[in-house]
Amino acid sequence: MWVFLPMMLLSLWPVAASTARSDAKPGCQEKCGNVSVPYPFGILEPSCAMNDYFFLNCNSTDESHPELLFAPNMPISNISELEGTVTVGIDAAFSCYNKTGIQTDFFQQQMTLGSARPFMFSHTRNIFTAIAYDTLAVVTNYESTYGAASDKSSLKISDWPLSRTAKYGKDAYATDVVIEWVVENKTCEKAKANTSAYSCGTNAYCTDPDEIDQGYRCLCNKGFEGNPYLKDGCQ
Ligand SMILES: *[C@@H]1O[C@H](CO)[C@@H](O)[C@H](O)[C@H]1NC(C)=O
Ligand SMILES: *[C@@H]1O[C@H](CO)[C@@H](O)[C@H](O)[C@H]1NC(C)=O
Ligand SMILES: *[C@@H]1O[C@H](CO)[C@@H](O)[C@H](O)[C@H]1NC(C)=O
Ligand SMILES: *[C@@H]1O[C@H](CO)[C@@H](O)[C@H](O)[C@H]1NC(C)=O
Ligand SMILES: *[C@@H]1O[C@H](CO)[C@@H](O)[C@H](O)[C@H]1NC(C)=O
Ligand SMILES: *[C@@H]1O[C@H](CO)[C@@H](O)[C@H](O)[C@H]1NC(C)=O
Repeated sequence: MWVFLPMMLLSLWPVAASTARSDAKPGCQEKCGNVSVPYPFGILEPSCAMNDYFFLNCNSTDESHPELLFAPNMPISNISELEGTVTVGIDAAFSCYNKTGIQTDFFQQQMTLGSARPFMFSHTRNIFTAIAYDTLAVVTNYESTYGAASDKSSLKISDWPLSRTAKYGKDAYATDVVIEWVVENKTCEKAKANTSAYSCGTNAYCTDPDEIDQGYRCLCNKGFEGNPYLKDGCQ
């Protein structure tokens, strides 16, 4: 056994690699640079995505390093169909003052998801952070604003989990934002009622994630693996 097991593993590897399935729509490119783009997302051709919300820009400034963009200057590093997440890198906002309190440098940042798109900021996977005096950082949705504001006399703390760990140097200027997506802003029950628009493929089921409460996603049935949004994706 001790001799056989490693040999079996070795001989299985190439087989597994050569039959690796694609999570993109058939005929569509699966990767932008080194980032996989699973359906309902798509690149290059609008027909590769389920709809315009999921059609992403795969741009390269130089030919060799294409970047998957959520928005200009916001590259995507990971899309998970299992978790329903998109991880986006952004430059963090900052302002710098010299010793006499004159602002010497600043950068403002904002990210808008819009109310029509099936994207939400994850409130379980992000830590919304604002550090220092004379600072305002807010998150607004269609019903309320959450934020962290401070001036010389007061410090308000965000309703979101707030990190108060200072970051210095390069780390302070780049951060990841996790966005959660649903396939459509409907409950499973309503989605199933219109079979021509229902997005879960064969051997997949519909789920309404509790923590989001704003739409549905698909998952493969037990014992199946693959992309539940493709017609025969779960195998
Ligand atoms: C993808 O490429 C970027 C830039 O080339 C690199 O920083 C990153 O580590 C790569 N990610 C993976 C998973 O290989
Ligand atoms: C992607 O590249 C095209 C052509 O170079 C350009 O028109 C477009 O604005 C770029 N998109 C983004 C999001 O940078
Ligand atoms: C992509 O994100 C998901 C959800 O956060 C995570 O489980 C997965 O490990 C990530 N994949 C990569 C290559 O970072
Ligand atoms: C701060 O910046 C202002 C405006 O540039 C300048 O007049 C002042 O001398 C600077 N103070 C220090 C301590 O560098
Ligand atoms: C989802 O749909 C409901 C009801 O149609 C609406 O109130 C809500 O604003 C929508 N949410 C998003 C994120 O589009
Ligand atoms: C069902 O979905 C199709 C395709 O998206 C759409 O054209 C149609 O209007 C929908 N029907 C109902 C009753 O919502």
